[in-house]
Order: sequence, then C-alpha cells, then structure tokens
Amino acid sequence: MYKQLQQRDMAEAPVNVSSLRAMKDRGEPIACLTAYDASFAQLVDRAGADIVLVGDSLGMVIQGHDTTVPVTVQDIIYHSRAVRRGLGRAFLMADMPFMSYTTPVHALDNAVRLMQEGAAMMVKLEGGASQVGIVEHLAQHDIPVCAHLGLRPQSVHKIGGFKVQGRGQAQAEQMLEDAVALEQAGADILLLECVPNELGQAVRHAVTVPVIGIGAGPDVDGQILVLYDMLGITQGRLPRFVRNFMTNNASPLEALQAYVLAVKDRSYPAPEHCFS
Ligand code: KIV
Repeated sequence: MYKQLQQRDMAEAPVNVSSLRAMKDRGEPIACLTAYDASFAQLVDRAGADIVLVGDSLGMVIQGHDTTVPVTVQDIIYHSRAVRRGLGRAFLMADMPFMSYTTPVHALDNAVRLMQEGAAMMVKLEGGASQVGIVEHLAQHDIPVCAHLGLRPQSVHKIGGFKVQGRGQAQAEQMLEDAVALEQAGADILLLECVPNELGQAVRHAVTVPVIGIGAGPDVDGQILVLYDMLGITQGRLPRFVRNFMTNNASPLEALQAYVLAVKDRSYPAPEHCFS
C-alpha cells in the first residue's frame, strides 16, 4: 500500500535502512559509491551499488577546489536531484556541507532541504561526540543520519592536512567512544575514513548499525569510494586506499560491476589499500 508508485514494478526492492541493517546482521558487505549526476547514478545503480552518496567531494572532483569547504547546501541539492533521477534500487545519501549544521535547528532546516528539495533519503554529517546533540535532534525528527568519523575532510584546515586518524591509543579510544555515543544518539550508519584496520574492526564490533569504510580496512560492514577516483578520472596523487577499477575493464559499467563484486567478495580492499 505504501510502496512508491514508480517502484511498484521494480524487480528488486529498493534498499532502505532496514535492509542495510539486515545486510550487516547477515555479514553481507554493503557496496557504496559517490555520484553527482543522473547518467553516472544510473550506471552505479545498474552495477548493483547499495548506497549512492552525493558527497561534498563534488567540491574537489566536479568544481575543482582543493578542499570540500566551499561546497554549499544548494550545490548538494542540485546534484542530489540529478542523482535521484538516475537511481532505481540504490539508497540515496547526501552530504551536509561545511557549516550547514552548526546548531540543532540549523541542521534540521538544512537536512529538510536536502530531503525535500534534493530527494535524499539520508543525510551525512562529519564529527565525533560534539555532534551528538545534532544527531539526536535530527533523529527525533525521523531524519535518517550517517555520522562520518575518522578523517573529516571539512576539518582539513584544523587537522593540518588529509591524514590517517586514530593511530594513537588515546585517539583510537576516543573514536570508539564517539562511535558508540553517535549510535546511541540515533545515527543509522557510521562512515569511517582513513583509520587503521584494527580500529575499523573495533568500531564495527562496538555498534549495531552498519559501518562503511573508506581506507578503514576490510573488517567493516561496507566500502565506499569516490567515483572519479575508482574510475581513474582523478589525476595526481591518490590516497592509498584507492584502486583504479578501469584497469582490466573495458567500460565504466564493467569497472563499477567489478568494484561491487570486489566489495561483496571482500577482495577489495587488499592489504596495499589499508593503514596500520
Ligand atoms: O564527500 C565524499 O565523497 C565523502 C566520501 C569520502 C565518503 O564523504
């Protein structure tokens, strides 16, 4: 009865928060990718990705900035609307850009815009325990939330570069505590960027919600990469965790299918993509 009209004839049920949680529970890796337009979204969806993120990485790979800091809510809305038109089965997550969630009320206003104007199904924000109040407020209003821990690119100027996080014992323990606090506050998914394998594994076991990694090792519940990085489009020095899936594949669709398969059979990430 409540099935959306356009989904009534779909062969496969669309991914949602419950099916993502069920994937974690049965140990099926969750394959995620970023996308920024309808054409690529269609390919990523067809390749079998479970989650598509309209990341603020668009500031770097689409707009050509050095960081994600200049990205605005309106930018994310524009790209999210386009991506949504390309999707069938995959779940659509959209990033809350830099300074778009400074207070619970501010965060709710912008999350509502991302969902109503951008057609997002979940919002992602960066931050540790300091964001607990924000996550709680969004969750109280039934906004699905992904909390991004580890390397937080929006804080690059404060951190002093794109660096591996959680290497010392105190930092690792703090991240673990933050992860638990964010789950308790109502986060539906955690995303962990650039941390040692051991910490990725510890976070995965400490929470019941899915933990998606990017440079967080193989022992998390799913993987995500920036589309243009894994298709070999991004030029220059790439992070260690990136694998170019266009190598040995004849088309972007084949490369995307190879990525989804590699995440599902856990052949990606390999040791050379990981941090210790
Ligand atoms: O903005 C983005 O693309 C991200 C990924 C690095 C996960 O947050």
